[in-house]
Amino acid sequence: MQTLHDIAELRRALAAARAADRGPVCLVPTMGNLHAGHIALVEAARKLGGIVVASVFVNPLQFGDGEDYDSYPRTLDQDAERLAAAGVDVLYAPGSRVMYPLGPGVATVRVEGVTEGLCGARRPGHFAGVTTVVSMLFNQVQPDIAVFGEKDYQQLVVIRRLVAALHWPVEIVGVPTLREPDGLAMSSRNQYLTTEERELAPALHAALREGAERIAAGDTDASAIEADIAGRLQARGLAPDYVEIRNGDLSRPDRASADPAAGQRVLAAVHLGRARLIDNVAVAPR
Ligand code: PAJ
Repeated sequence: MQTLHDIAELRRALAAARAADRGPVCLVPTMGNLHAGHIALVEAARKLGGIVVASVFVNPLQFGDGEDYDSYPRTLDQDAERLAAAGVDVLYAPGSRVMYPLGPGVATVRVEGVTEGLCGARRPGHFAGVTTVVSMLFNQVQPDIAVFGEKDYQQLVVIRRLVAALHWPVEIVGVPTLREPDGLAMSSRNQYLTTEERELAPALHAALREGAERIAAGDTDASAIEADIAGRLQARGLAPDYVEIRNGDLSRPDRASADPAAGQRVLAAVHLGRARLIDNVAVAPR
């Protein structure tokens, strides 16, 4: 694995790989502090058979005031070991000055509509930070394919809209959420949980799954299901930011439905101690 920190080196390495016709260039963007969920994205990328580029960059532009930018865990040496072991060809780990030579926020890329609800409502500017940095990574790496996790479902839908709206010649691949044995979605932010909070955290996935199962069983009353999930979360000590049933493209449905054409999901964010946890579950038709 080559580890590269600047754009000129990256372009040289990728030009050589393209000249050698080594197959599609596949990008896996991350903020590092890697866990098995990130590695599942790398494995999906490797199956595509070309060159795998993983990026590690903690993007200041997507963190709001009072969020965890300063304390976000930075573990590049361990990340590099994990990525090399997983078969990544190029680790691209630029510093802030490489990414934002004029400072963050001089030019931004925004996706409208789908960024407004759910996490977008609670984290103003967050998705503009994500779509800006992803656009920059696409310009730098010029990937044929980019891989994102369903764990951040709204982010995945936002990136698909970005690519469609701006005609990026990049195929977006989504990868299902990797979970701990008790159902908790793997996340770098899980390490903010105390032992006691960690025991409560799986209640998030459990409540979402129960909601999805009610829909699969034929219940169409989205508001009642959302309210019941929120109540259940509160009863377990998890403070919901939102609980929502949405179509697969994140449009709002008139009613809950297990119709595969709608591809509905039950999505939630909760506060638990210092951590803000998000998760979502697909409604599987019976
Ligand atoms: P980060 O939180 O590091 O996540 C990087 C990628 O890993 C994202 O596509 C995310 O959805 C995926 N991921 C995280 N946990 C996962 C899990 N348990 N199962 C499957 N995939 C998982 O998301 C970001 O970074 C940033 O916003 C980024 C896209 C890199 C832009 O800065």
